[in-house]
Amino acid sequence: MTQRVLTGITTTGTLHLGNYVGAVRPAIAASREAGVESFFFMADYHALIKCDDPARIARSRLEIAATWLAAGLDTSRATFYRQSDIPEITELTWLLTCVTSKGQMNRAHAYKASVDANLAAGEDADAGVTMGLYSYPILMAADILMFNAHRVPVGKDQVQHIEMARDVAQRFNHLFGKQAPMPPEGNASTRGGPAPTQGRDFFVLPEANVEEEIALLPGLDGRKMSKSYDNVIPLFEGGSKALKEAVARIVTDSRAPGEAKDPDSAHLVTIYDAFATAEQRAAFRQALRAGLAWGEAKAQLVDLIEAQIGPMRTRYEALMAQPERIEQILLEGAAKARAIAAPLLAELREAVGLRRFNAIASAPVAVARAEKSALPIFKQYRETDGQFYFKLQGADGGLLLQSTGFAQGRDAGQWVARFKHEGAAALAEAPVQRSEGVDDATLVAALQALQADTAEIEARATKS
Ligand code: TRP
Repeated sequence: MTQRVLTGITTTGTLHLGNYVGAVRPAIAASREAGVESFFFMADYHALIKCDDPARIARSRLEIAATWLAAGLDTSRATFYRQSDIPEITELTWLLTCVTSKGQMNRAHAYKASVDANLAAGEDADAGVTMGLYSYPILMAADILMFNAHRVPVGKDQVQHIEMARDVAQRFNHLFGKQAPMPPEGNASTRGGPAPTQGRDFFVLPEANVEEEIALLPGLDGRKMSKSYDNVIPLFEGGSKALKEAVARIVTDSRAPGEAKDPDSAHLVTIYDAFATAEQRAAFRQALRAGLAWGEAKAQLVDLIEAQIGPMRTRYEALMAQPERIEQILLEGAAKARAIAAPLLAELREAVGLRRFNAIASAPVAVARAEKSALPIFKQYRETDGQFYFKLQGADGGLLLQSTGFAQGRDAGQWVARFKHEGAAALAEAPVQRSEGVDDATLVAALQALQADTAEIEARATKS
């Protein structure tokens, strides 16, 4: 089964080298693995929690998008989007909020850190704490669960949030999973697995992926690299000059040139390791033990980083000069993401009881059965081009709609599921072509009939 890998980056600032090593690089590497489907996004709703400067938010999400693209993200493989382009995420956040215990949120590190700082300063425990900060882990859980991610590459500081997402997923599955309707006609499209016979679980339980060795790149002073410590090495900002200047500021001990150095106690070596091959690491250590001057060690570090970052910086600058290109890429990413999010959300709404009032749902079963024989039908199939398609045939067998090709059968399945739940409302966004000579009324009537039938099947499944 394909593994879904998902991660987000909060768009409040400019990425530094630590973000690249700890988040962007491992995520892009994972997206190239076979059997992996990746989701990367700008966590711009999360950014609003920390920042109320609109210009900074706007600038940061553009820069971060350009960074991912410049770093080599292949958007034909990965789904790359802005969190705020997916309204389903905020809607899911509310469904999850309603099953999340307040006590658990009290224990979230970010919130506790604010409380501790307040208490230490003799302030009210919750001074300056917004509900956004407090509920931050729930929004993050929605990011992850919306796409049923299996793996979430994050820094160590985020591991607790993934654990919380698992808990929330489990609670939702427990409360609503078992009594939920089976998808009609055994269509297990949104989960990618066979439908269990006893109801279903909506959410995969995600796992954090921490690259232990280098997850937290040390900053200039040896503490975690972070804007708030003013100890960062910039990624692209300021060009190679800024890189050189930052590396020059890395704190080392005072051993003189020629004196043996202890590589294992130097965070400069840890930074070097993050960009070096095994052989380079060994040679660098050896040279330091043999007395390599810190100044020379820093020059080697600059060369090592520049060889990898320099070409990306060139691509980055080209992209930043064409924001409309980035916009286009992100809109395409959002459409891809919503094609997955919308059908799942429709099922979740059903599951919690936010259902349509449907006359046919209460009609006698015999009548519904009789109508069923005269229903239009969706058919899914694969063409010789290897792509997956679906089409809609009228009750008389005539072709009404025809989809474009999809690389994944699941994507076709998700559109079919969406049509069945949303009826004609799905037309606006669906990648389909109407057959020649089919008028609005015919098409809408066919889709409405199918939608009503779906609601009826599901209502019956819920009752039994
Ligand atoms: N909270 C994460 C951070 O600050 C960013 C983030 C938001 C995220 N949503 C996510 C990461 C979902 C992984 C998955 O680093």
